[in-house]
Amino acid sequence: MERLISPPRLMIVSDLDDTMVDRHNDPENLSLLRFNSLWEDAFRNDSLLVFSTGRTLPMYKKLRKERPMLTPDVIVTSVGTEIAYGKSMVTDDSWANIMNNKWDRGIVEEETSKFPELTIQRECDQRPNKVSFFIDKSKAQEVTKELYQRLEKRGLEIKIIFSGGKALDVLPKGGGKGQALAYLLNKLRAEGKLPVNTLVCGDSGNDTELFTVPNVFGVMVNNSQEELLEWYEENAKDNAKIIHASEKCAGGILEAIGHFKLCPNLSPRDVSGFLECKADNVNPGHEVVKFFLFYERWRRGEVENCEAYIASLKASCRPGGVFVHPSGAEKCLRDTIDELGKYHGDKKDKKFRAWTDQVLATDTNPGTWIVKLDKWEQTENERKCCRTTVKFTSKENGGLVWENMQQTWSEESEMKDDSNWII
Ligand code: GLC
Ligand code: MG
Repeated sequence: MERLISPPRLMIVSDLDDTMVDRHNDPENLSLLRFNSLWEDAFRNDSLLVFSTGRTLPMYKKLRKERPMLTPDVIVTSVGTEIAYGKSMVTDDSWANIMNNKWDRGIVEEETSKFPELTIQRECDQRPNKVSFFIDKSKAQEVTKELYQRLEKRGLEIKIIFSGGKALDVLPKGGGKGQALAYLLNKLRAEGKLPVNTLVCGDSGNDTELFTVPNVFGVMVNNSQEELLEWYEENAKDNAKIIHASEKCAGGILEAIGHFKLCPNLSPRDVSGFLECKADNVNPGHEVVKFFLFYERWRRGEVENCEAYIASLKASCRPGGVFVHPSGAEKCLRDTIDELGKYHGDKKDKKFRAWTDQVLATDTNPGTWIVKLDKWEQTENERKCCRTTVKFTSKENGGLVWENMQQTWSEESEMKDDSNWII
């Protein structure tokens, strides 16, 4: 969050499973990829991305390896009981302290063990401030009431959340996704960085609280669970700031960005063909996102095998511009583009995808930009990532010149095999 010099234009706070990530109906992750390109293209530089999940941190990391997910600025895990910041995921210790107020995991375990209706979840889903169970939907209300009273009598201040028609979480009263968001907003306010707009996105019971935070826009994705929709019917039906999207998962998030005019909401992935940069475009992040989208389409054979495209890309590179390949080899940038030309359609039917993450541009000197990003690519089950730096300068008559580019393997890359890496 430190990188922001002024209040973020938009803060998106999104649940992951079945909200940002479609675990059931989108094996190619198309809606997530559409969201990703829009975020990197139009919001990354001046907005904040927050993921708020029921998963524990290790289970979040597992999901990240399975799906093309962006790196959030803030990650709220374990149903709003843990908060961490940035790529290196630095824990918020003050939040951890708040979570220990009037909380005793031992007592929660002792009292819950008296309920045969509760089946404890896997060990990897348990955390110091989150005790999670499964329960039959028909028993949830009754058990919640009874358990709440018993724990209160034992001096604890807790909260019980029913989600997904089957999960029951016991958390500290001050925890939960809504409280975690309120805490983040206060922190941002204190730093003079209260977001201009905040959009919360969810699909199930543990997301309900997000929609109760004052002044936020909200989207319940189309595939939302009954318990969230019921809550909405009973409590928030008249709130014009909350919608039930007609699109599923990340598609619903894009829909909400459009509906609430948190513009722009046209994902570069929804624009077909070769995405030429306009001469008046001086957004170098934009240029990079579009280039790697073209790169994906070229290798998938989804754009026409047209020499003019390659010629136009070459023309935007400085003649003597250098590309440092992750192997360390130095090449001429224009030759690398020529080489790309030979790979049209080579990844056809190979489930090939390329995406960019953390595309951040800085303009140290007037007319010169350094864009840093993670460039990912995936072919079937093989995933690679390169930390990429591009230097741009502006042309006198508008538009941008690619000066040079450098790539090194990211520590997140599963493979560091340079033989098949073009750019
Ligand atoms: C996630 C967590 C699970 C929790 C559920 C509902 O699925 O893994 O432990 O019970 O969210 O909050
Ligand atoms: Mg969910």
